Amino acid sequence: MRKVSIDLHKGYTVYIEKGIIDNCAEYIKDICKGRRAVIISDSNVAPLYSDRVIKSLESKGFEAFLFTVKAGEESKSPENLIKAADFCLQSGLTRADVIVALGGGVITDMAGLCAALYQRGVAVCQIPTSLLAMVDSSVGGKTAVNLSKGKNMFGAFYQPSVVLCDSTVLSTLPQCEFANGMAEVIKYAVLKAGRTKEILENENIEENLDELIEECVKIKKEYVCEDEFDTGARQFLNLGHTVGHAIERLSDFEVSHGNAVAQGMCVVARACAKEGMCEASVAKEIEKLCKKFSLPTVVTMDSEALFEASLSDKKRMAEEITLVLVRSFGDCFLYKTKMEYFRNIINKGLED
Ligand code: NAD
Ligand code: GLY
Repeated sequence: MRKVSIDLHKGYTVYIEKGIIDNCAEYIKDICKGRRAVIISDSNVAPLYSDRVIKSLESKGFEAFLFTVKAGEESKSPENLIKAADFCLQSGLTRADVIVALGGGVITDMAGLCAALYQRGVAVCQIPTSLLAMVDSSVGGKTAVNLSKGKNMFGAFYQPSVVLCDSTVLSTLPQCEFANGMAEVIKYAVLKAGRTKEILENENIEENLDELIEECVKIKKEYVCEDEFDTGARQFLNLGHTVGHAIERLSDFEVSHGNAVAQGMCVVARACAKEGMCEASVAKEIEKLCKKFSLPTVVTMDSEALFEASLSDKKRMAEEITLVLVRSFGDCFLYKTKMEYFRNIINKGLED
């Protein structure tokens, strides 16, 4: 069993163990006094895994209720958030009870926000089922749904009470979704190098999946514990994301988040090399890692259109933007600059 303690004011543990889903109630019983649980899941994940969660909950005396939304980003909506909360009320959930998020990042984000708001806060157990949700969205307490004109625009910081990662469920995750998660894993390797980079470069991913998840969660923990509310160090986690979000937006979300983040990291790294901030070999190594995990490295979009698309990024404060730039693996830095300089980064990074 691997464990990472997230040492915040309201701290919690991330448990990583194969098969833990069948024993989830052992951990859930310790985070709430009540014995009612609402499981929030999606139409792909619920048929595969909800029975196992319910069986475990019932074995520990819980009454379990399942709320399912259609799989996909469109379901991360205020309408579904309200439906989920209504379902909790109809199920008789009290503040002593628990919400269980069972799914990818769409579910961990929405169920987390539902838990934050329902009766002003109820315990939430995150059971992430995508690689992205295991290494990123289930940890750190960012919860949200989307508004019609912006992703994650309606949310709250609300930490879970426990996170249970069972990497065996990744066997049913489509390959393209696994690659999406790998983009975030590569991001951690660029930020901190260390064991994450070693595993990615030299070892069999499947055989080392639990250790890889643990290493990523430890890295995320460092940033979250230093800056829970995302006003400083946590911004490092946006490496590749500012360009990535612009790519997603410009493609009308045809390009997946993971692909866009990989492209964004490569654009930034190439630009950093051209600006003399890092060796060209660093950019090449990042590209090599992305290619190894079936992620794209080049962007064929028009640079001016990409720049325009980045202007609506929520990370932009007035005319300035904080970029995450790269000196080498394990040595990135935050750089607050004018939007004009960001235009230069895009122009240089788009060139091969
Ligand atoms: P997702 O939740 O849509 O899952 C991707 C697809 O995989 C879905 O179709 C889902 O049904 C399916 N799936 C998940 N687990 C499965 C399994 N084990 N077997 C079969 N199918 C499975 O998307 P995602 O990539 O997991 O997460 C993306 C979301 O996460 C975005 O909404 C993003 O904004 C959010 N996010 C949040 C944070 C945060 O810190 N809160 C960080 C990164 C991303
Ligand atoms: N996914 C970025 C963060 O949690 O801050």
